[in-house]
Amino acid sequence: MIAASFHQVTRTYGAGAGAVAAVRDSSVDIVSGRFTVLCGASGSGKTTMLNLLGGLDRATSGSVVVAGQPLETLKGNALSDFRARHIGFVFQAFNLVPVLSAYENVEYPLSLLGVSKARRRARVLDLLDAVGVAQHAHRKPGELSGGQQQRVAIARALATRPALVLADEPTANLDSTTGAAILALMRDIQRARETTFVFSSHDPQVIEAADDVVRIRDGGIVSVERMAAAEASL
Ligand SMILES: Nc1ncnc2c1ncn2[C@@H]1O[C@H](COP(=O)(O)OP(=O)(O)OP(=O)(O)O)[C@@H](O)[C@H]1O
Ligand SMILES: [Mg+2]
Repeated sequence: MIAASFHQVTRTYGAGAGAVAAVRDSSVDIVSGRFTVLCGASGSGKTTMLNLLGGLDRATSGSVVVAGQPLETLKGNALSDFRARHIGFVFQAFNLVPVLSAYENVEYPLSLLGVSKARRRARVLDLLDAVGVAQHAHRKPGELSGGQQQRVAIARALATRPALVLADEPTANLDSTTGAAILALMRDIQRARETTFVFSSHDPQVIEAADDVVRIRDGGIVSVERMAAAEASL
């Protein structure tokens, strides 16, 4: 099954002679239940591609389809509603809400969707346990280490059981030991919960852990390498 796809997507910033094509004429399928890494040098277009997949940015031309829905057909609130239901984000800088506890940060996306208090509680406790910070549920982000904050951010991204979890260099702000632990955690969760993860990274450790590797250069996709099992599920 295909979780998301780009169909001849171009994203141009600016106009005229100064225009930059951050993504150019790119087509790729993201296979469901797998761990895909977008890799390429700085400025190659990784963040732009993730933002397009997550509906945070719009393609200049072409189509971005997530869970069967072409995002360019969604306007205004329909796009933010779609994002809240179907897409989870993990950011390089964690982006937790500083005044909310770890528990409340994970609960927040569920409250937005109107999930009942009892179901929210069960889901939040399960996720905080899965990412190994259940004992710190009451702490605010400023009272947690970087690795712990990223664990909470992962739990938050998974809270709504999204079709797609997007992570922009999620280990870049962590030391290598913590980064490796976070990577292993995400790998385990992705497998156990059959979630679809798309990461951007230029970290060889992350690329090594991927099922599928999409290599990008100057906004274009130069290759897509998939493990044999992915070909079978296409
Ligand atoms: N808002 C913007 N306005 C103009 N140009 C932009 C904008 N955002 C990105 N770009 C340009 O688009 C290209 C791709 O940027 P992008 O941020 O997607 O790269 P990246 O692969 O994520 O890089 P990094 O590894 O440094 O995060 C770059 O040339 C960048 O300068
Ligand atoms: Mg980037």
